Amino acid sequence: MRNHGFLTMDDFDFRNKTVILRVDFNSPLDEAKRITDDSRIRMHVPTIRELMDKGAKVVILSHQGRPGDPDFSTLQEHAQRLSQILGRPIGYVDDVYGERAKAAIEHLKPGDVLVLENVRTIPEETAKMKPEDFAKTEFIRRLASLADAYVNDGFAVAHRANASVVGFPIILPAFAGRLMESELKALERARKAEEKPCIYILGGAKSEDAAAISEYVLSHRKADFIITGGVVGQLFLHAKGFNLGEPNRRFLEARGFLQYVLKIRSLFQDFPDRILTPEDFGVEVFGKRRDISLEDLPTPFPILDIGPRTVESYAKVIRDSRIIVLSGPMGVYERSDFMLGTKGVFEAVAMSKAFSVVGGGNTIEALEKLGLRERVGYISSGGGALMEFLTGKVLPGVEALEKAAERWRKKT
Ligand code: 3PG
Repeated sequence: MRNHGFLTMDDFDFRNKTVILRVDFNSPLDEAKRITDDSRIRMHVPTIRELMDKGAKVVILSHQGRPGDPDFSTLQEHAQRLSQILGRPIGYVDDVYGERAKAAIEHLKPGDVLVLENVRTIPEETAKMKPEDFAKTEFIRRLASLADAYVNDGFAVAHRANASVVGFPIILPAFAGRLMESELKALERARKAEEKPCIYILGGAKSEDAAAISEYVLSHRKADFIITGGVVGQLFLHAKGFNLGEPNRRFLEARGFLQYVLKIRSLFQDFPDRILTPEDFGVEVFGKRRDISLEDLPTPFPILDIGPRTVESYAKVIRDSRIIVLSGPMGVYERSDFMLGTKGVFEAVAMSKAFSVVGGGNTIEALEKLGLRERVGYISSGGGALMEFLTGKVLPGVEALEKAAERWRKKT
């Protein structure tokens, strides 16, 4: 196991100190950009409460979506939700490091909390730079000059070498928040995968990482089986040579997923019986669900779910597993007629005796909707970060905390 050498919130006296707290409030939003699930906000509450109780002045930084994406929005509602959860007023300012942000920070009293604007509204955040260069930007310098310490609680964004993730630890004393700490401890069990069989269930719409994850966990014998659903399932079937029909092929193409086809094809050659793909689907025909099987392909209708036969075969594999990593729903669970696959597979996970690790905003929301949240082993706040962690990668956000701890120890 990699030994995490970062400092935690036990290592600093936060009384009267201004703290930059990087969280990941990035939440699923509906079409009106309203938060549909506030789990990620709730997960940071222990850290925020502890800092408040210790008399810190807490300045929260988070992102929500990416510029150009439908879920890119301000953090005003996030601040309101946090205020409701904490049962006390929380400040919000629609500015990241300008004069209004500065004034609001300077007005904070011990125990106060302020949420700054979505940090991805400023281009510096996602620029490609080394941590040392980020630390020289106006953004990091100005905010750091108003603060005494930096706490990173955003495990879910720790895989992004973004300015607010890796820049502050160069300048400020930097600590892992309670969520970051508990994530890293709990996920180590899934990463080691000493109990067998270990399976990975990969679904959802973000398919960029599915091939790389499958390759890593199969070739390093971390996973015995990969179960695919959602868009990931369609991509893997397409790579296997199935013609899914024009609307579905076009969808994969438009999202840039066809570039992974060759890699997936070679995975099927190297691990022929280890990757399970859907056997039937729910497609949308004039607004209604219709179930079709592989023989009915290609279909002129969009595939929105896996079908009941697939659920049955997947459930058998899930039942015998000892460790399960679950990332991504099996279909468009937001619509009740396309929830069948997600419900069936997630219920099988909840009923199994396996230690399950679940990640991804939509996955957590789907679990919540199905009333299964309390019945899985560990719910990680991470989606991409969880997958990178499980595939043995060093997360830039964690590395930044470790390097900061080394510098701090040398100084003291
Ligand atoms: C996530 O949802 O995985 C994190 O918030 C990171 O978001 P990103 O994929 O837009 O960087």
